[in-house]
Amino acid sequence: MFASAVTVLCFLGFCSLHPSFGQDCTNRQDIQGSLKQVQKLLSAHEASYLQSLRNLKKKINLLQSSTGKQASKPTNSTCPKLDTLTNGRKLGKSHSVGHEVHFLCEPGYELVGSESRVCQESLTWSGQQPSCRDINECASSPCLNGGTCVDEVNQFSCICAKGWAGVTCQSPLPTFFVTMTNTSAATSPDAAAATTLPAATAGPFVRPSRCSTVQGTTHCTCEPGYTISGRDSSICTDIDECELFHDGQAGRLCLHTCVNTAGGYRCTCPAGYNVTRDGRSCKDIDECATRQNNCTRDQTCINTYGGFQCVRVDCPKIPNATYVKTSPMRCERNPCPVDNKACSQTPNSFSYHYLAVVSNLSAPRVMFRVSALRPIGDTLRFSMLGGKQARRHFTVQRSDRLTGQLMLVSPVQGPATLEAEVEMSELERRVQLGRYITKVTMFVSQYEF
Ligand SMILES: *[C@@H]1O[C@H](CO)[C@@H](O)[C@H](O)[C@H]1NC(C)=O
Ligand SMILES: *[C@@H]1O[C@H](CO)[C@@H](O)[C@H](O)[C@H]1NC(C)=O
Ligand SMILES: *[C@@H]1O[C@H](CO)[C@@H](O)[C@H](O)[C@H]1NC(C)=O
Ligand SMILES: *[C@@H]1O[C@H](CO)[C@@H](O)[C@H](O)[C@H]1NC(C)=O
Ligand SMILES: *[C@@H]1O[C@H](CO)[C@@H](O)[C@H](O)[C@H]1NC(C)=O
Ligand SMILES: *[C@@H]1O[C@H](CO)[C@@H](O)[C@H](O)[C@H]1NC(C)=O
Repeated sequence: MFASAVTVLCFLGFCSLHPSFGQDCTNRQDIQGSLKQVQKLLSAHEASYLQSLRNLKKKINLLQSSTGKQASKPTNSTCPKLDTLTNGRKLGKSHSVGHEVHFLCEPGYELVGSESRVCQESLTWSGQQPSCRDINECASSPCLNGGTCVDEVNQFSCICAKGWAGVTCQSPLPTFFVTMTNTSAATSPDAAAATTLPAATAGPFVRPSRCSTVQGTTHCTCEPGYTISGRDSSICTDIDECELFHDGQAGRLCLHTCVNTAGGYRCTCPAGYNVTRDGRSCKDIDECATRQNNCTRDQTCINTYGGFQCVRVDCPKIPNATYVKTSPMRCERNPCPVDNKACSQTPNSFSYHYLAVVSNLSAPRVMFRVSALRPIGDTLRFSMLGGKQARRHFTVQRSDRLTGQLMLVSPVQGPATLEAEVEMSELERRVQLGRYITKVTMFVSQYEF
C-alpha cells in the first residue's frame, strides 16, 4: 500500500515540475481525463491509507494498554502472606497468582480446612486457612471401669478409678492394704518371758513378739507384716503377702511380679516398664521421648508398650507411577502424564500409621479412622486390603458419610505385629477419581498392661 502511494506522488510531480512535458501533450482534454483518473486513484489510495493508519493506531493502543497492565502487575500480583500452621507445615513458597500451596500436619494431628489453597486473580487465597487438630484418641472411650481418658499427641492415657490399673484400667487391684498385726493367745507362761531370740533364728524375716500377761493369760503381738505362725508365740515370722494374696478374690497385689520383703512386699515390672506411684502397677517407659532408643536420623521412633520400634517409610515402587515423600509418613503420586490410564488408576497416596496396643485388648474396638477432607466425587468407598491375618482381626466399616473405620474384631495375643490396609476410593458417577491407601501397623505388646 505504501509503495503504490509513493509511486503516484512521483508521477504527479514529474508532470507539473517539467513544463516541457505539458507542451508535449497535444490534447488538453486527454490530459484532464488522465488527471481525473489519477485523482480517483489517489483518493482511493488515500482512503485505504487512512483505514490502515486507523488499524495501526488501534493495534498500538491495544499493545500499549496490555503492556501497561503487565507493568502494573508485579507490584500487586501476590496474595497476602499465609499464617504459619501450628503442628504442621506449608508446602510451596510462591504466593503469586495461579500458584498453589499445600498443607500437611504432623503425625498425631489431622488437617481441618483446606488441604490446598490457590492464589486467585483477585489476589485472595481460595479455601480457608487450615489448622492441625490433635486426633482425639479418646473418641472410642478406651478407658474401662470408670477410668478417665486423657488425649495426648498420638496416644491417650487413662486415669483409672480407685481399684483399677493397667493401660485401659482393665486390671483390678486389691482394695485393701497389707498392715496386718497378728495377735495370739497363748497359755504357756514360759513363752511370756521370752522377749529375746536366739541368734540363729534372728534375721529380717523373724522378729520377737511382744507379750504381756493379763490374769494368767499371755497375749503376744507382732509388728505389722509379721505373724506368730508356730507354737512358739515368742517368735513372729514374716507374712508372705505375695503368697497370701496370690490370685485373691480382690485381685492380685501386683500387676506383674510380687517380691516378698521382710515385713512387707514390693512389686516389680518387666523391662521397658516402670512401677507406678502406687507401687503396684506398671507404666510403660517412653523410650522415644527419653532418648533411650537407638533409632537413626532417617527413622522414626515409635513407642510401644514395653519397648520401641524404629520405622522408616519408603515410598512404594509401582509400575506406571512414581511416588514422592511429602512427609515422614506419607507418599504422594507424582502427576500422571496426560492420557496415561495405567498411571491414573494407581493410588494417589499412601499414608502410614503405627499403633501400639497392649496384648489381649478387648474387641470389638475402633482402631483407626480414615476421613475425606475435601470430597470431590459423589461416592466414597472404604475397603480393606491385605492378607488372611489382617482379615482375621480387622474389618473396615463406614462410620459416617465421609469416614471409614478400622475395627479390631478379635483380641490379639502379643507379642505380635499386625498390618492392615484401608483403601478409600472416591467416585463420581461410578467413575473412579482417586484411591487413597492407609497402611496401619499395630505393635501388640507381650503383656496386658
Ligand atoms: C496493592 O499493594 C499495596 C501495597 O503494596 C496495597 O496497599 C494495596 O491494597 C494493594 N491493592 C490491592 C488491590 O490488593
Ligand atoms: C494369726 O495367727 C494364728 C495362729 O498362729 C493363725 O491361725 C492366723 O491365720 C493368723 N492370722 C493371720 C491374719 O495371719
Ligand atoms: C523409672 O523409675 C526409676 C525409679 O523410680 C527412675 O529412676 C527412672 O527415671 C524411671 N524411668 C522412667 C523412664 O521414667
Ligand atoms: C538397637 O538396640 C537393640 C538392643 O536394644 C539392638 O538389638 C539393635 O540391633 C540396635 N539397632 C541398631 C540399628 O543399632
Ligand atoms: C504400565 O507398566 C507396564 C509394566 O511396567 C508396561 O508394560 C505398560 O506398558 C505400562 N502401561 C502404560 C500405559 O504405560
Ligand atoms: C484376655 O482377656 C479376657 C477378658 O478380657 C480374659 O478372660 C482372658 O483370660 C485373657 N486372655 C489372656 C491370654 O490373658
